[in-house]
Amino acid sequence: MPAPEIALTERFQSAFASAFGPEYADADPIIRPSQFADFQCNAAMGLAKRLGKKPRDIAAEILAAVELDDIAETPEIAGPGFLNIRLRTEWIAAQAAELTTDPRLGVPVPETVDTVVVDYSAPNVAKEMHVGHLRTTVVGDSIVRTQEKLGHTVVRQNHIGDWGTPFGMLIEHLLDVGEDSDEAKLLETDPNAFYQAANAKFSGADGSKHNEFADRARRRVPTLQSGDPETLEIWRHLVELSKQYFHRVYDMLDVTLTDDDLAGESSYNDQLEIVCKILEADGLARISDGALCVFPEGFIGRDEQPLPLIIRKTGGGYGYATTDLAAIRHRVDALGADRIAYVIGTAQELHLKMVFTAARDAGWLPEEVDVQHVKIGSVLGEDGKILRTRSGSSVRLMALLEEAVTTARTVIDEMRPDLPEAEREQIAHDIGIGGVKYADLSTSHDADYTFDLDQMLALTGNTAPYLQYAVARIRSISRKAETQGLVAADAPRVENDAERALALHLLDFGPTLTAVGAAYEPHRLCAYLFSLAQAFTSFYEASPILKESDEQVRAGRLALAQLAEKVLVEGLDALGVNAPQQM
Ligand code: ARG
Repeated sequence: MPAPEIALTERFQSAFASAFGPEYADADPIIRPSQFADFQCNAAMGLAKRLGKKPRDIAAEILAAVELDDIAETPEIAGPGFLNIRLRTEWIAAQAAELTTDPRLGVPVPETVDTVVVDYSAPNVAKEMHVGHLRTTVVGDSIVRTQEKLGHTVVRQNHIGDWGTPFGMLIEHLLDVGEDSDEAKLLETDPNAFYQAANAKFSGADGSKHNEFADRARRRVPTLQSGDPETLEIWRHLVELSKQYFHRVYDMLDVTLTDDDLAGESSYNDQLEIVCKILEADGLARISDGALCVFPEGFIGRDEQPLPLIIRKTGGGYGYATTDLAAIRHRVDALGADRIAYVIGTAQELHLKMVFTAARDAGWLPEEVDVQHVKIGSVLGEDGKILRTRSGSSVRLMALLEEAVTTARTVIDEMRPDLPEAEREQIAHDIGIGGVKYADLSTSHDADYTFDLDQMLALTGNTAPYLQYAVARIRSISRKAETQGLVAADAPRVENDAERALALHLLDFGPTLTAVGAAYEPHRLCAYLFSLAQAFTSFYEASPILKESDEQVRAGRLALAQLAEKVLVEGLDALGVNAPQQM
């Protein structure tokens, strides 16, 4: 199901080959949307240089060779050699008709099916998920949904922080309060409170010089790491309670992560020593100031000295980098990754670059495996600084989400007091959560953005509620049509300008999703859906459906509107945003 750009590209390339020779068969025809027509071909200028002729002459030669009759009117040559192309409305109509019966809605089947490993969310055990985790979770989930829709094989990896020195104090604190105590239950509801209580005891906030708790906590770390069964048992309990908490957040967010996707830091524990041994044996790691370090090429510190990536600390402990190296080996060898996407905060850019370089040098990350850091920017408060509560602590994600749903509830209560309570509750969830997620997704993922609930839940502008409302409107039209006995035509009507513009937009869904998937850029899908919803609104204003008197026109427009609904819903689903039945 070729979208216009794809169809035009094919035709122009065969024209290049016949006019200028087979070596021109894959020259880029540079098809772009045009102000003066639907598209323009901008290739004449570049080809003229290559062929040593005048651009306008080349444009004329292209025009003579290209066969577009079934797709477009005869192009016009403009300016230095642009070819302006106006598509035939009948061709657009035929393509739209094909789209209606295509279950993939025009999304091309990928040339090769990749195994894509996506590392995202990755909160820490016994700690609150904060707004930073919100973004890695929401963006990552949209990436996996998109890759799956394109037809790739996706492996989700939730690299939770479930290992390391803080577990000494967390375990001791859990032992102190008792596994079934109310204090322990905090892990499921307010994990920060649990963490802070443990930390206060550890840092000796009680003022005592000799801190017996801190001693115990420190001793507990090697006991855990050596695999003492009793200690492991308590640790497991701690992780279990945290998992419940993560899943409450994931459920609230309609995120696709499950327990099967958990691959926490602890799962690489038995590989850390091996990683160090291999790197040392290969001469890639050496002892520096007592620590075992890799010095990947090209990383220089402020002091002009090579930057170390520490893989075994002076005291013998392993760190974050060692785990990430072990994870790469697992992802390439065991999971069979063709591509790996790390959806992680921008602040970890240097860490990841060093890890990737070290892994390439060690031969664990072959050149043909593509690895990308999908950098996640910060969520800012209205003061332009990292979002915090008034008292300065980090904002609890769950509190934020609950506030979004409550606010959405007041909006829907006002809009649709006629709807049953349970339905309003569901709609408030979809709008509130959808609004927050969409705000995250519509900003380019590496840019910071300001958390502004009113703007996120606005019914106008590039927001989830605007798109959800467009869908709800079409669904409402369909319901009314049904009561009037109006059945949608088999093929959408594409005749007047507004119908034509909407149909053209719909044909672009497939190529857009492909581009979004290739670049891991959900914000481009948001931009597409927003302009699609606008095209629908213009269409609906210019071309009434139910009020139209001609039965055939009504049925054709209804089919076009329903195709727009399908594409909007599919696009929103790729973002992880639900579209309510009514609003
Ligand atoms: N747990 C880490 C944090 O909260 C993020 C881990 C990201 N994934 C990774 N493979 N390093 O900052």
